[in-house]
Amino acid sequence: MLAAECAWTILQADHAKMRRLLDAIAREAGDGPWRVAGPAPARLKEFIDTLRTFDHVSHRPKGTALLGVLRGRSPDADRLLDEMELEREGDDALLDQALARLDAFTRGETEAGAECAALLAQHRNRVLLHLDQEDTLLRAQTEQLLDHEEWAHVVSVISTSLYPTANANHLGTAPEKPR
Ligand SMILES: [Fe+2]
Repeated sequence: MLAAECAWTILQADHAKMRRLLDAIAREAGDGPWRVAGPAPARLKEFIDTLRTFDHVSHRPKGTALLGVLRGRSPDADRLLDEMELEREGDDALLDQALARLDAFTRGETEAGAECAALLAQHRNRVLLHLDQEDTLLRAQTEQLLDHEEWAHVVSVISTSLYPTANANHLGTAPEKPR
């Protein structure tokens, strides 16, 4: 089904970007001298902020319609959605803890650097696993359960988040005429 392919191509491209950002965070958080002393690890903070913003502002809104139409369709699907929701909360909490340790490090608590790096490594392992689960288990459930109309709706919502202005025009908002 073309709409399903289209939706998953976009979601998996997002996942690929998130994996690259997780790799960048892991490189920065590795054995760098920042954990011992020196200036605040600005690049590490920047990569973490980019990942968080991309996930919350761009990626998750795209999945909202997909998860919404899947909910209630089968006990297996509901179980998977419940698990994913819990896992996501756990991922977010870990990243918050890592950021708190990073802030502590920049305030002068040197030992917080190693704690931050350990939390980030834990976060990376979890998120990589969860992205893979979405690309396989969630994809299989959606392809099995959703019909053409539902996929069309999902793609329409995704395109709204990709092209908000173009879509607003398409939905009837008249473009401003030059005076
Ligand atoms: Fe996702």
